[in-house]
Amino acid sequence: MRLFSLGARLETVAGLIPPGAIVVDIGTDHARLPIWLVKTGRCTRVTASDIADIPISRARENVTRWGVDEMVQVIQCAGFDGIQPGSFTHAVICGMGGDTISAILAAALWTRDARYTLLLQPETAARRLREFLYGHGYVIRNEIAVLDGGRVYTILEVAGGLDPHRDDPLYARVSAPLLTQHDEAARQYVARVMQSLAREQKGLAPDSAAYKETASLLLRLQEWEAQYA
Ligand SMILES: C[S@@+](CC[C@H](N)C(=O)[O-])C[C@H]1O[C@@H](n2cnc3c(N)ncnc32)[C@H](O)[C@@H]1O
Repeated sequence: MRLFSLGARLETVAGLIPPGAIVVDIGTDHARLPIWLVKTGRCTRVTASDIADIPISRARENVTRWGVDEMVQVIQCAGFDGIQPGSFTHAVICGMGGDTISAILAAALWTRDARYTLLLQPETAARRLREFLYGHGYVIRNEIAVLDGGRVYTILEVAGGLDPHRDDPLYARVSAPLLTQHDEAARQYVARVMQSLAREQKGLAPDSAAYKETASLLLRLQEWEAQYA
C-alpha cells in the first residue's frame, strides 16, 4: 500500500520533528501524522491521543490497517491527561482552536520544560494563543506560515522559557520568527493580520490609546511588507 501524502500543513509539522523523536499527537483524529512518522522511519514510537470516541475508533482502525500497532499507541484522553511527563520529546496539537490549545496547555503547565518541544497549529485565535504562551512561561522558538488548499496556516514551535518579545503587542499578532520568513505564505499571513487590525481600528475613537496602538502596529507591518514581501 503506497503511503499517503500528509499535505503541506502536516508536512510542515513533520518537518519540525527530528529523527528519533518520541512524539505524542494530541487530537490525532485519523492518526495520519503518527502513522506517517513511523511508516517513513522518522520515529519508532508515537502516541496518538484524542478526547472523542469516533476519532479514537478511526485512529485504531487506521493504525491496524497500516500494520503499525506495535509502534503507535492509541489512547483516549483529554489533552495531556493520559500522557506521562517525561514519556515524549515532542507534543503535537494541531487543527484545534487556539483557545482549546491554550486550555490544554493551562492544564499541563509541566510542559514548560526544556525536555519538551510543542508543535501547535491553531485554526483560530492565534493571537490569544500567543498571548497565553507569553504570559505562561513559554517561548515561541519558531513560527512558520504555510499555504495548503488555498488557506494560510500558522505552525508554532514552542518550548518552556521567557520569550524576549512577550511585552511587545506586535508579536501577539504575528511572532518575531514568522516575520523572518520572506515568502508568499508569510506575506498572506501578515496581510490577514493587517486586515484584522484595520477592521479593529474602524471601531475606535481616533484620540484613544487603542487607536494609536493599532495605527503603530499597522505602520510596523506596512514597513515589513515594503521591505520583504
Ligand atoms: C480537526 S481534528 C484535527 C486532527 C489532526 N490533529 C490534524 O491537525 O489534522 C481535531 C481533533 O481534536 C480532538 N480534540 C478536541 N479537543 C481535544 C482535547 N481537549 N483533547 C484531545 N483531543 C481533542 C477532536 O476530537 C478532533 O479529533
